[in-house]
Amino acid sequence: MSKSIIILGIESSCDDTSAAIIKNGRVLSNIISSQKVHEQYGGVVPELASRAHQKNIIPVINQAIKKAKINKNQISAVAFTRGPGLLGSLLVGISFAKSFALAMNIPIIDVNHMQAHILAHFIKEIDGKSNSPNFPFLCLTVSGGHTQIVKVTEYLNFELMGETLDDAAGEAFDKSAKLLGLPYPGGPLIDKYAKDGNHKTFSFGEPKVDGLNFSFSGLKTSILYFIKNKTKQNPNFITENLNDICASIQHSIVNILIKKIEKAVKETNIYNVAIAGGVSANSELRKQLKSKEDSHNWKTYIPNFSYCTDNAAMIAITGHYKYLNNQFCDQKITAKARLSV
Ligand code: KG4
Ligand code: ZN
Repeated sequence: MSKSIIILGIESSCDDTSAAIIKNGRVLSNIISSQKVHEQYGGVVPELASRAHQKNIIPVINQAIKKAKINKNQISAVAFTRGPGLLGSLLVGISFAKSFALAMNIPIIDVNHMQAHILAHFIKEIDGKSNSPNFPFLCLTVSGGHTQIVKVTEYLNFELMGETLDDAAGEAFDKSAKLLGLPYPGGPLIDKYAKDGNHKTFSFGEPKVDGLNFSFSGLKTSILYFIKNKTKQNPNFITENLNDICASIQHSIVNILIKKIEKAVKETNIYNVAIAGGVSANSELRKQLKSKEDSHNWKTYIPNFSYCTDNAAMIAITGHYKYLNNQFCDQKITAKARLSV
């Protein structure tokens, strides 16, 4: 029998410190420590993030190894996020990965965070269950820092078809939430309040952007002026209408995303459509995408909630496929704040 491939994945690109163990593509553990320190600032504070990563990384790795019930000597390679992300945060994960690999005499694998969000679809649960897309497929990757439409033809073959020209979809959620006085990250809260609201109550302008690119900055400005005007007339406007405002904002953002992915399907004739990244946890986006199965004959792939937001299992699964291709990297490798898919 061939030797098992056991990958330790490490993710530290933003405000989550995460470590995971994947054995032959199956997840044995996926530990995530989310940093609460940023809530009060309305966004991630880079210095605080890297300090928290330093504090969390060893306990998180120890827990991942313990939960996976493996011995660290069994690990075949260490996969880590090289970028894109916050430099100070990335450095913590990279430095740990390099030293651990040196000490254990095993190879290291650099992982692109945006590719990993997409490959999260190939993570198998311990019982072997998965709902992996068939190639080729289109992936709408929507996170706090990115909004992209990517054509995926093989495990490690990605073609960027469109992306945001300004804010990311997650930023549109978070910045709108901030205007409503909600803490960071506001995306999940908008989703929660929207459940009891009517999305037809308020409407915001739709951006006109050519091709498969996106823009969310106009929407942000229109929400800003809308809130300003309404609260001038009624200081309690937000509290009295929170559910409807959230439902209307969510509907506008999801509408922009769905229209572009529909356009991408028309242009490519690829009917396998996946979503990935933190915003793919959004219930309205998930619902609308799913409805395309019946109305448009699409085959849709919606990730398990635990693999939508940042996690190390997605880094480890990408590491697994790079390991199979012998795509290792050198100890001289450095972090990259910007890295294209
Ligand atoms: O992928 P991710 O964890 O981190 C980045 O790589 O950026 O995405 C985080 C983003 C945040 O903007 C957060 O508000 C958003 O994902 N998010 C959501 C939901 N859950 C997370 N946005 C809308 N609805 C949700 N349920
Ligand atoms: Zn991410």
